[in-house]
Amino acid sequence: MSDPKDDIYDPAFVANLFDRCSRSYRRWSAISSFGFIALWRRQCVGRLATPQNTQPVVVDLMAGTGEVWPYLLRRFPDLETITALDISHRMHVDAVARLHGAYAERITHVEADALKTDLEANYADLLVSTFGLKTFNAEQQALLARQIARIVKPGGSFALIEASDPKGWMLRPVYRFYLDRVLPLVERYLLRGANDFSMIGTYTRNFGDCDQMAIALREAGLSVEVKKHFFGCATSVAGTKPTEHG
Ligand SMILES: C[S@@+](CC[C@H](N)C(=O)[O-])C[C@H]1O[C@@H](n2cnc3c(N)ncnc32)[C@H](O)[C@@H]1O
Repeated sequence: MSDPKDDIYDPAFVANLFDRCSRSYRRWSAISSFGFIALWRRQCVGRLATPQNTQPVVVDLMAGTGEVWPYLLRRFPDLETITALDISHRMHVDAVARLHGAYAERITHVEADALKTDLEANYADLLVSTFGLKTFNAEQQALLARQIARIVKPGGSFALIEASDPKGWMLRPVYRFYLDRVLPLVERYLLRGANDFSMIGTYTRNFGDCDQMAIALREAGLSVEVKKHFFGCATSVAGTKPTEHG
């Protein structure tokens, strides 16, 4: 039997990994993606439907250091609160350290496992998650989809985005070489880090794209549309929770 410490999908393993990455995560993700990650976060927020409630309650799952909050606040300036859920203690601490006074009080921090959270049912008008899917295997994605279906209000909407493997793209070999060979070397020699960010590359490779998550969300009763971003280097799933009247 394998040791749970070696299971890269064990939530405790993932929490430790992100605890170690938290300080450099923001800069590393921006630089290693050539800035694309910021554009993709904005596009993900753009996929949320306009809420009926003018002061929507927003849930950010796998919130990390809160990189998506400026886009949420720009699009929904009157939002009531962003409930930021993350399993990593250090990610929350770094998010709080970076918060501007102006919107600190509009963020509610929840340190919890998204697969087991007891956030209220029908709580969120809007639910977003940026780059937080890759550390879930297929079974966990099914659990997460059920959580999302439970947390979002009927008529509410959700949008999730994740870095993906751009299968079929002409430049995929170059992209893979960059992810699999160049980034680990940059981490080792420039950041003098352990293999933590390179682990994120392993998760991304295993993840593939958002198709599996889309299936899980449909099975959980949500309406879902998948979209490719920049030749499939990221994919997103967005949709709504049907109301009782359909
Ligand atoms: C790659 S970061 C993404 C952070 C941020 N959303 C962004 O756009 O950059 C993934 C985050 O997911 C969190 N995470 C991973 N598994 C989780 C789980 N089971 N429950 C809650 N958070 C989790 C990690 O702690 C980490 O902060």
